[in-house]
Amino acid sequence: MQQSIFDLRIEDYEPTQPTAHLKKVGYDNAGNQYAVKRVEDGNWIPLTEWVGYSLCRILGIATPDFTIGHDENNQPVFCSKWENGKVFTRDEDQMDALAEIKPRLQAIANIIALDEFIENPDRHAGNLIFRDNTPNLLAFDFALSQFTKSACNAKIDQSKTDQTQALKTLIAWLSRSSRMRIDATEITNKIKKIQTSDLNKILTSAPFYWMQQAGLDCIIAYLSDKQKRL
Ligand SMILES: Nc1ncnc2c1ncn2[C@@H]1O[C@H](COP(=O)(O)OP(=O)(O)O)[C@@H](O)[C@H]1O
Ligand SMILES: [Mg+2]
Repeated sequence: MQQSIFDLRIEDYEPTQPTAHLKKVGYDNAGNQYAVKRVEDGNWIPLTEWVGYSLCRILGIATPDFTIGHDENNQPVFCSKWENGKVFTRDEDQMDALAEIKPRLQAIANIIALDEFIENPDRHAGNLIFRDNTPNLLAFDFALSQFTKSACNAKIDQSKTDQTQALKTLIAWLSRSSRMRIDATEITNKIKKIQTSDLNKILTSAPFYWMQQAGLDCIIAYLSDKQKRL
């Protein structure tokens, strides 16, 4: 029987080295492993992850499975199922990363188009999972998306550097050198066609605890307005 998302409880944590926003890797009682993101890791983080992953579902962009769980304090947390595959860190051989990126240019360009829509400046080879099986590329980590802050006119930290630019330059260069046409038209049209009712469904299914001070309506109005300007 499929487990109801409301039953998912993070029972146990792995003693991992925390990263910028991933402080917890946990397990449910069936032993499934999850990257767990909590409000205390950054106010907007679970919500931006939830919206990012949910929009991927609508657009046909593959991600790890995700769900809402509850932590030991019974607070709702965003859970991304742990998937095996290659995730590149800056210290690793960049030629290896290049070899994985090259056959997936269109798929990565599609992810970047979504990132731009939700104002996520953090797409790099460390936020993609490269696998041998299908789907052979998974997007994850929408934590730094700024659309929630933009929607409620909150201050955006301009000092954060754009981590996506290097990947964009690489895609442009690789597509030119291999004479491949990488085209964002199809994905942009899909983003334009996302229904307001779908945005509404995504946001109303997020726990209220994740909403911070933002009105759900202003986030929907903000994204709908952006769709018109695409
Ligand atoms: N669902 C997942 N499956 C496999 N590895 C993951 C998953 N989520 C996160 N990771 C690993 O944990 C690291 C940190 O997670 P990430 O979501 O990128 O947090 P941060 O915001 O700190 O960069 C990733 O670079 C990746 O190696
Ligand atoms: Mg990351």
